[in-house]
Amino acid sequence: MSVAPDLSDLPRNKIPRHIAVIMDGNGRWAVKRGLERVRGHQQGARTVRDIVTECARLRKEFGGPDYLTLYSFSLENWKRPVDEVTFLMQMYIDYLRSERATMMENNIRFQQIGRLENLPLPVLNEMERTLEETKHNTGLTLVLALNYGSRAEIVDAVQAIAREVKEGRLKPEQINEEVISGHLYTAGMPDPDLLIRTAGEMRVSNYLLWQISYAELFVSPTLWPDFGVADLHEGIRAFASRNRRFGALDHTNTLKAVGSRQ
Ligand code: IPE
Ligand code: IPE
Ligand code: MG
Repeated sequence: MSVAPDLSDLPRNKIPRHIAVIMDGNGRWAVKRGLERVRGHQQGARTVRDIVTECARLRKEFGGPDYLTLYSFSLENWKRPVDEVTFLMQMYIDYLRSERATMMENNIRFQQIGRLENLPLPVLNEMERTLEETKHNTGLTLVLALNYGSRAEIVDAVQAIAREVKEGRLKPEQINEEVISGHLYTAGMPDPDLLIRTAGEMRVSNYLLWQISYAELFVSPTLWPDFGVADLHEGIRAFASRNRRFGALDHTNTLKAVGSRQ
C-alpha cells in the first residue's frame, strides 16, 4: 500500500483516540546550538502549535484523535533554576492568550490536568478563560498537563475517595477501577492509546501512570523543537501497525492454541 503524507490511506479505526505526548528535548535543542535553554522552550511552543493544528485537522478529516494530552510542566520541574521556571510560566500565559482565537477557529476544547496550587495567578486566569471560552467546542480536546505529577494525582484521588467513604457516600467494596479512574484529573477522558516521547529517553517521568496501562509506546529520537507533522504521522503509523492484545491472544494465536489442544 502506498504511504500518503496526510495519513489518508489509514483506516479510521487505526487512528488513536487519545494521543499523550512527553514533549522532551527543548534544553538539548538549544544547547546544541549554543543558545540558552529557554530558546528551546520558545521553539518548542511553535512545535506545539503545529502538532495541535495537525491533530485538529486529523480529527476533522478522520474523526480522531479526540484527545491530545501534552506534558508541558511536571511537579518535579519546579526543581529547575528559577529563571527557567519563570520563563516557562510566562510562556504558558502568552501561549494561551495568543492561541485562544486559533482554538476557536479550529473548534478545539481546552482542558488542564495537574495541581492548581502554586501556579501563578496570571497562569490560572488564562487557563480559566481558555477553558470557559472553548468549553462548547466539539472538535479536538487539547489537554495541557501543567503542574502535573501522576503520583500526586493518585494521592489526590485516594484522598477524595477516602473522604467519600468517611462521609458514608461510598462503601469500600464499591471502590473499583472505574471509581479510581473517575477521581483522577482525567475523569471522563478515554485512556491514552498512544504515548509519544520525544528526545529518546526510555522513561515515563511520572506521566499518566494509571492511564497508560495499555498505551502503545513510541519513543522518537527527535528533539521536541524539531518534531514535525511527519514525525507525528510516523508515531500514528507505528501505532496502526501494532497488534494490541490487552492480555488476550490475537486471532492467529487463538487458533493455534485451540489447535494444540486437539
Ligand atoms: C521539555 O524539555 C520541556 C520541559 C520539561 C518543560 P526539557 O527542558 O526537559 O529539555 P531537555 O530534556 O533538558 O533537553
Ligand atoms: C518530562 O520531562 C516532563 C515534561 C516533558 C514536562 P523531563 O525532562 O522533566 O523528565 P526527566 O527529568 O528527563 O525524567
Ligand atoms: Mg527533559
